[in-house]
Amino acid sequence: MRKILVTGGAGYIGSHACKELSRAGYLPVSFDNLSNGHKKAVKWGPLIIGNINNSNQLNKVFTKYKPLAVMHFAGCISVGESEIRPSKYYKNNVKGTLSLLNVMKKFSVKYMVYSSSGAVYGKTKKNPIKETAIKKPTNPYGWSKLISEKMILKFSDICGIKFAILRYFNASGADKLLDIGECHKPETHLIPLVLKAALKKNNSIKIFGNNYKTKDGTCIRDYIHVSDLAKAHVLSLNKIIKDKKSFHLNLGTGKGYSVKEIIDLAKKITNKEIKVNIFPRRKGDIPEMIADSKKAKRILNWKIKNSDIKTILETAWNWHKKQI
Ligand code: UFG
Repeated sequence: MRKILVTGGAGYIGSHACKELSRAGYLPVSFDNLSNGHKKAVKWGPLIIGNINNSNQLNKVFTKYKPLAVMHFAGCISVGESEIRPSKYYKNNVKGTLSLLNVMKKFSVKYMVYSSSGAVYGKTKKNPIKETAIKKPTNPYGWSKLISEKMILKFSDICGIKFAILRYFNASGADKLLDIGECHKPETHLIPLVLKAALKKNNSIKIFGNNYKTKDGTCIRDYIHVSDLAKAHVLSLNKIIKDKKSFHLNLGTGKGYSVKEIIDLAKKITNKEIKVNIFPRRKGDIPEMIADSKKAKRILNWKIKNSDIKTILETAWNWHKKQI
Protein backbone atom coordinates (compact mmCIF):
# COMPACT_ATOMS: atom_id res chain seq x y z
CA MET A 1 0.00 0.00 0.00
CA ARG A 2 1.33 3.46 -0.88
CA LYS A 3 2.17 5.37 2.29
CA ILE A 4 1.65 9.09 2.69
CA LEU A 5 3.25 10.92 5.60
CA VAL A 6 0.64 13.31 7.02
CA THR A 7 2.17 15.88 9.35
CA GLY A 8 -0.56 17.19 11.61
CA GLY A 9 -2.61 14.06 10.84
CA ALA A 10 -4.27 14.21 14.27
CA GLY A 11 -5.52 17.74 13.63
CA TYR A 12 -8.75 19.02 12.19
CA ILE A 13 -8.02 19.18 8.46
CA GLY A 14 -5.25 16.56 8.64
CA SER A 15 -7.55 13.91 10.11
CA HIS A 16 -10.21 14.52 7.45
CA ALA A 17 -7.48 14.20 4.81
CA CYS A 18 -6.39 10.87 6.36
CA LYS A 19 -9.93 9.55 6.03
CA GLU A 20 -10.04 10.59 2.38
CA LEU A 21 -6.56 9.14 1.70
CA SER A 22 -7.60 5.83 3.18
CA ARG A 23 -10.77 5.83 1.08
CA ALA A 24 -8.56 6.37 -1.99
CA GLY A 25 -6.40 3.34 -1.14
CA TYR A 26 -3.41 5.06 0.51
CA LEU A 27 -2.09 4.40 4.00
CA PRO A 28 -1.90 7.71 5.89
CA VAL A 29 0.97 7.75 8.41
CA SER A 30 0.23 10.57 10.85
CA PHE A 31 3.12 12.49 12.41
CA ASP A 32 1.85 14.87 15.08
CA ASN A 33 3.08 16.33 18.37
CA LEU A 34 -0.52 16.39 19.66
CA SER A 35 -0.19 20.05 20.65
CA ASN A 36 -3.39 20.76 18.75
CA GLY A 37 -4.31 17.30 17.51
CA HIS A 38 -6.01 14.36 19.20
CA LYS A 39 -4.97 10.72 19.38
CA LYS A 40 -8.56 9.61 18.88
CA ALA A 41 -8.74 11.48 15.55
CA VAL A 42 -6.14 9.11 14.05
CA LYS A 43 -8.25 6.22 12.79
CA TRP A 44 -7.00 5.27 9.37
CA GLY A 45 -3.31 4.51 9.90
CA PRO A 46 -0.48 4.66 12.43
CA LEU A 47 0.28 7.69 14.60
CA ILE A 48 3.85 8.69 15.32
CA ILE A 49 4.15 11.31 18.02
CA GLY A 50 6.88 13.74 17.11
CA ASN A 51 7.84 17.27 16.19
CA ILE A 52 8.59 18.43 12.65
CA ASN A 53 11.42 20.57 14.03
CA ASN A 54 13.14 17.40 15.25
CA SER A 55 14.97 15.96 12.25
CA ASN A 56 16.03 12.82 14.17
CA GLN A 57 12.39 11.94 14.72
CA LEU A 58 11.59 12.68 11.08
CA ASN A 59 14.57 10.60 9.89
CA LYS A 60 13.26 7.60 11.83
CA VAL A 61 9.78 7.92 10.35
CA PHE A 62 11.08 8.29 6.80
CA THR A 63 13.38 5.28 7.32
CA LYS A 64 10.61 3.09 8.72
CA TYR A 65 7.72 4.00 6.41
CA LYS A 66 9.43 5.16 3.19
CA PRO A 67 6.54 7.47 2.27
CA LEU A 68 5.78 8.14 -1.37
CA ALA A 69 4.65 11.68 -0.55
CA VAL A 70 4.10 14.14 2.26
CA MET A 71 0.93 16.04 3.11
CA HIS A 72 2.05 18.85 5.37
CA PHE A 73 -0.58 20.24 7.76
CA ALA A 74 1.41 20.58 10.99
CA GLY A 75 1.63 24.15 12.19
CA CYS A 76 -0.05 26.93 14.10
CA ILE A 77 -3.28 28.23 12.68
CA SER A 78 -4.64 31.23 14.51
CA VAL A 79 -4.48 34.66 12.90
CA GLY A 80 -5.10 36.48 16.21
CA GLU A 81 -2.50 34.51 18.17
CA SER A 82 0.12 35.07 15.47
CA GLU A 83 -0.06 38.81 16.16
CA ILE A 84 0.75 38.20 19.82
CA ARG A 85 3.23 35.31 19.49
CA PRO A 86 4.87 35.72 16.05
CA SER A 87 7.99 33.71 16.94
CA LYS A 88 5.83 30.64 17.64
CA TYR A 89 4.46 30.97 14.09
CA TYR A 90 7.86 31.43 12.44
CA LYS A 91 9.35 28.56 14.42
CA ASN A 92 6.57 26.03 13.90
CA ASN A 93 5.40 27.02 10.44
CA VAL A 94 8.57 28.27 8.71
CA LYS A 95 11.38 26.43 10.50
CA GLY A 96 9.21 23.31 10.74
CA THR A 97 8.58 23.32 6.98
CA LEU A 98 12.30 23.81 6.32
CA SER A 99 13.18 20.88 8.57
CA LEU A 100 10.64 18.70 6.74
CA LEU A 101 11.90 19.76 3.29
CA ASN A 102 15.48 18.89 4.27
CA VAL A 103 14.45 15.39 5.30
CA MET A 104 12.37 14.97 2.12
CA LYS A 105 15.45 15.96 0.14
CA LYS A 106 17.63 13.50 2.04
CA PHE A 107 15.21 10.62 1.41
CA SER A 108 14.40 11.70 -2.16
CA VAL A 109 10.67 12.03 -1.47
CA LYS A 110 9.38 13.80 -4.55
CA TYR A 111 5.78 14.84 -3.80
CA MET A 112 4.34 17.32 -1.36
CA VAL A 113 0.83 18.66 -0.78
CA TYR A 114 1.12 21.78 1.35
CA SER A 115 -1.56 23.26 3.57
CA SER A 116 -1.33 26.96 2.81
CA SER A 117 -3.90 29.66 3.37
CA GLY A 118 -5.90 32.46 1.82
CA ALA A 119 -4.10 34.58 4.42
CA VAL A 120 -1.10 34.80 2.02
CA TYR A 121 -3.01 37.39 -0.04
CA GLY A 122 -3.76 39.92 2.65
CA LYS A 123 -6.07 42.76 1.71
CA THR A 124 -6.71 42.43 -2.01
CA LYS A 125 -8.24 45.00 -4.33
CA LYS A 126 -10.63 42.43 -5.77
CA ASN A 127 -12.80 39.60 -4.52
CA PRO A 128 -13.04 36.72 -5.42
CA ILE A 129 -9.29 36.25 -5.22
CA LYS A 130 -7.40 34.43 -7.97
CA GLU A 131 -4.13 32.54 -7.41
CA THR A 132 -2.28 35.24 -9.34
CA ALA A 133 -3.37 38.09 -7.02
CA ILE A 134 -0.65 40.09 -5.26
CA LYS A 135 0.41 38.51 -1.99
CA LYS A 136 0.83 40.85 0.96
CA PRO A 137 -0.09 39.12 4.21
CA THR A 138 -1.43 41.30 7.03
CA ASN A 139 -0.38 39.05 9.91
CA PRO A 140 2.52 36.74 10.91
CA TYR A 141 0.37 33.67 10.25
CA GLY A 142 -0.06 34.69 6.59
CA TRP A 143 3.65 35.53 6.32
CA SER A 144 4.65 32.16 7.78
CA LYS A 145 2.58 30.45 5.07
CA LEU A 146 3.91 32.63 2.26
CA ILE A 147 7.56 32.16 3.31
CA SER A 148 6.98 28.39 3.51
CA GLU A 149 5.51 28.43 0.00
CA LYS A 150 8.66 30.18 -1.27
CA MET A 151 10.89 27.59 0.40
CA ILE A 152 8.92 24.75 -1.20
CA LEU A 153 9.40 26.42 -4.60
CA LYS A 154 13.16 26.61 -4.08
CA PHE A 155 13.39 22.97 -2.99
CA SER A 156 11.36 22.06 -6.03
CA ASP A 157 13.99 23.83 -8.19
CA ILE A 158 16.97 22.22 -6.54
CA CYS A 159 15.76 18.67 -5.89
CA GLY A 160 12.77 18.15 -8.13
CA ILE A 161 10.01 18.00 -5.49
CA LYS A 162 6.63 18.34 -7.20
CA PHE A 163 4.16 20.21 -5.05
CA ALA A 164 0.52 21.19 -4.75
CA ILE A 165 0.23 24.35 -2.69
CA LEU A 166 -3.38 24.57 -1.51
CA ARG A 167 -4.54 27.92 -0.17
CA TYR A 168 -7.69 27.40 1.75
CA PHE A 169 -10.15 29.93 2.91
CA ASN A 170 -12.24 29.17 6.03
CA ALA A 171 -12.20 25.44 6.70
CA SER A 172 -15.33 24.50 8.61
CA GLY A 173 -17.94 21.79 9.25
CA ALA A 174 -17.34 18.19 10.28
CA ASP A 175 -17.29 14.72 8.79
CA LYS A 176 -20.91 13.73 7.98
CA LEU A 177 -20.58 10.44 9.86
CA LEU A 178 -19.13 12.41 12.79
CA ASP A 179 -16.00 10.23 12.93
CA ILE A 180 -14.00 13.45 13.34
CA GLY A 181 -14.58 17.19 13.69
CA GLU A 182 -13.10 20.48 14.83
CA CYS A 183 -11.63 20.68 18.31
CA HIS A 184 -8.93 23.27 18.96
CA LYS A 185 -7.77 24.21 22.42
CA PRO A 186 -8.10 27.09 22.81
CA GLU A 187 -10.68 27.55 20.06
CA THR A 188 -10.32 30.79 18.08
CA HIS A 189 -12.41 30.17 14.95
CA LEU A 190 -15.80 31.71 14.46
CA ILE A 191 -18.11 28.77 13.72
CA PRO A 192 -17.02 26.48 16.60
CA LEU A 193 -17.14 29.44 18.99
CA VAL A 194 -20.66 30.35 17.88
CA LEU A 195 -21.79 26.74 18.36
CA LYS A 196 -20.13 26.57 21.77
CA ALA A 197 -22.03 29.71 22.74
CA ALA A 198 -25.24 27.95 21.62
CA LEU A 199 -24.30 25.02 23.87
CA LYS A 200 -23.58 27.50 26.69
CA LYS A 201 -19.96 26.38 26.84
CA ASN A 202 -19.10 30.05 26.32
CA ASN A 203 -21.18 32.86 27.74
CA SER A 204 -21.41 34.73 24.46
CA ILE A 205 -19.84 35.23 21.08
CA LYS A 206 -17.64 38.26 20.52
CA ILE A 207 -17.94 40.02 17.19
CA PHE A 208 -14.54 41.50 16.40
CA GLY A 209 -15.52 44.75 14.72
CA ASN A 210 -18.86 45.88 13.30
CA ASN A 211 -17.61 48.96 11.47
CA TYR A 212 -15.97 47.39 8.40
CA LYS A 213 -17.03 48.57 4.96
CA THR A 214 -19.13 45.47 4.33
CA LYS A 215 -22.89 44.93 3.94
CA ASP A 216 -23.53 44.76 7.71
CA GLY A 217 -20.22 46.08 9.07
CA THR A 218 -18.80 42.65 10.01
CA CYS A 219 -16.09 40.66 8.19
CA ILE A 220 -16.96 38.42 5.29
CA ARG A 221 -15.36 35.00 4.80
CA ASP A 222 -15.66 32.10 2.38
CA TYR A 223 -16.50 28.94 4.37
CA ILE A 224 -15.49 25.64 2.79
CA HIS A 225 -16.42 22.24 4.22
CA VAL A 226 -13.46 20.29 5.56
CA SER A 227 -14.49 17.11 3.69
CA ASP A 228 -14.48 19.03 0.39
CA LEU A 229 -11.02 20.31 1.31
CA ALA A 230 -9.86 16.79 2.12
CA LYS A 231 -11.07 15.57 -1.26
CA ALA A 232 -9.11 18.35 -3.01
CA HIS A 233 -5.96 17.18 -1.22
CA VAL A 234 -6.27 13.64 -2.53
CA LEU A 235 -7.13 14.82 -6.05
CA SER A 236 -4.06 17.09 -5.92
CA LEU A 237 -1.83 14.28 -4.73
CA ASN A 238 -3.03 12.00 -7.53
CA LYS A 239 -2.47 14.78 -10.04
CA ILE A 240 1.11 15.62 -9.06
CA ILE A 241 2.01 11.92 -9.02
CA LYS A 242 0.46 11.39 -12.45
CA ASP A 243 1.51 14.60 -14.26
CA LYS A 244 4.73 15.39 -12.34
CA LYS A 245 3.80 19.07 -12.44
CA SER A 246 3.45 21.50 -9.54
CA PHE A 247 0.63 23.97 -8.98
CA HIS A 248 -0.98 26.47 -6.60
CA LEU A 249 -4.74 26.41 -5.97
CA ASN A 250 -7.27 28.41 -4.01
CA LEU A 251 -9.88 26.31 -2.25
CA GLY A 252 -13.14 28.00 -1.37
CA THR A 253 -16.71 28.23 -2.60
CA GLY A 254 -16.70 31.69 -4.17
CA LYS A 255 -19.45 32.82 -1.77
CA GLY A 256 -19.01 34.96 1.32
CA TYR A 257 -20.92 35.23 4.60
CA SER A 258 -20.55 37.94 7.21
CA VAL A 259 -19.93 37.21 10.88
CA LYS A 260 -23.45 38.40 11.67
CA GLU A 261 -24.96 36.17 8.98
CA ILE A 262 -23.15 33.15 10.42
CA ILE A 263 -24.46 33.92 13.90
CA ASP A 264 -28.03 34.39 12.62
CA LEU A 265 -27.92 31.13 10.66
CA ALA A 266 -26.47 29.31 13.67
CA LYS A 267 -29.37 30.56 15.80
CA LYS A 268 -31.83 29.07 13.28
CA ILE A 269 -30.04 25.74 12.91
CA THR A 270 -29.44 25.19 16.61
CA ASN A 271 -32.73 26.73 17.69
CA LYS A 272 -30.83 28.26 20.63
CA GLU A 273 -30.27 31.70 22.02
CA ILE A 274 -26.77 32.99 21.24
CA LYS A 275 -25.61 36.04 23.15
CA VAL A 276 -23.55 38.48 21.13
CA ASN A 277 -21.12 41.19 22.25
CA ILE A 278 -19.41 43.71 20.01
CA PHE A 279 -15.65 43.96 20.52
CA PRO A 280 -12.98 46.06 18.79
CA ARG A 281 -11.51 44.80 15.52
CA ARG A 282 -9.02 41.94 15.80
CA LYS A 283 -5.53 42.99 14.67
CA GLY A 284 -4.52 41.57 11.29
CA ASP A 285 -8.12 40.89 10.15
CA ILE A 286 -9.26 41.94 6.72
CA PRO A 287 -12.80 42.93 5.79
CA GLU A 288 -13.54 40.43 3.04
CA MET A 289 -11.92 37.26 1.70
CA ILE A 290 -13.55 35.17 -1.00
CA ALA A 291 -11.79 32.57 -3.13
CA ASP A 292 -11.88 32.20 -6.87
CA SER A 293 -11.51 28.41 -7.12
CA LYS A 294 -12.16 28.00 -10.83
CA LYS A 295 -8.65 26.70 -11.37
CA ALA A 296 -9.08 23.93 -8.76
CA LYS A 297 -12.39 22.88 -10.29
CA ARG A 298 -10.85 22.84 -13.75
CA ILE A 299 -7.56 21.09 -13.18
CA LEU A 300 -8.69 18.63 -10.48
CA ASN A 301 -12.27 18.18 -11.62
CA TRP A 302 -13.02 19.08 -7.98
CA LYS A 303 -16.71 19.02 -7.10
CA ILE A 304 -17.81 20.90 -4.00
CA LYS A 305 -20.46 18.70 -2.37
CA ASN A 306 -20.82 19.66 1.29
CA SER A 307 -20.10 23.38 1.42
CA ASP A 308 -23.50 25.02 1.35
CA ILE A 309 -23.48 27.00 4.59
CA LYS A 310 -26.40 25.04 6.04
CA THR A 311 -24.57 21.71 5.69
CA ILE A 312 -21.42 23.26 7.15
CA LEU A 313 -23.27 24.53 10.21
CA GLU A 314 -25.39 21.38 10.61
CA THR A 315 -22.43 18.98 10.48
CA ALA A 316 -20.44 21.20 12.86
CA TRP A 317 -23.45 21.44 15.19
CA ASN A 318 -23.97 17.65 15.20
CA TRP A 319 -20.28 17.20 15.98
CA HIS A 320 -20.26 19.71 18.83
CA LYS A 321 -23.38 18.20 20.38
CA LYS A 322 -21.69 14.79 20.30
CA GLN A 323 -18.75 16.16 22.31
CA ILE A 324 -20.85 17.09 25.36
N1 UFG B 1 -14.45 36.31 14.59
C1 UFG B 1 -15.24 36.96 15.50
N2 UFG B 1 -15.32 36.43 16.75
C2 UFG B 1 -14.64 35.33 17.14
C3 UFG B 1 -13.82 34.68 16.20
C4 UFG B 1 -13.75 35.20 14.93
O1 UFG B 1 -15.86 37.98 15.21
O2 UFG B 1 -14.75 34.93 18.31
C5 UFG B 1 -14.36 36.84 13.22
C6 UFG B 1 -12.95 37.19 12.82
O3 UFG B 1 -12.61 38.49 13.25
C7 UFG B 1 -13.06 37.03 11.30
C8 UFG B 1 -14.08 35.91 11.11
O4 UFG B 1 -14.79 35.85 12.34
O5 UFG B 1 -13.57 38.19 10.75
C9 UFG B 1 -13.45 34.57 10.85
O6 UFG B 1 -12.43 34.37 11.81
P1 UFG B 1 -11.73 32.97 12.07
O7 UFG B 1 -10.79 33.17 13.21
O8 UFG B 1 -12.74 31.91 12.17
O9 UFG B 1 -10.93 32.71 10.72
P2 UFG B 1 -9.93 33.69 9.92
O10 UFG B 1 -10.72 34.28 8.80
O11 UFG B 1 -9.23 34.61 10.80
O12 UFG B 1 -8.86 32.67 9.40
C10 UFG B 1 -9.25 31.55 8.64
C11 UFG B 1 -8.16 30.53 8.64
C12 UFG B 1 -6.99 31.03 7.87
C13 UFG B 1 -7.41 31.54 6.51
C14 UFG B 1 -8.49 32.56 6.63
C15 UFG B 1 -8.85 33.03 5.24
O13 UFG B 1 -7.81 30.17 9.97
O14 UFG B 1 -6.10 29.96 7.66
O15 UFG B 1 -9.56 31.96 7.32
O16 UFG B 1 -10.14 33.03 4.87
F1 UFG B 1 -6.39 32.16 5.90
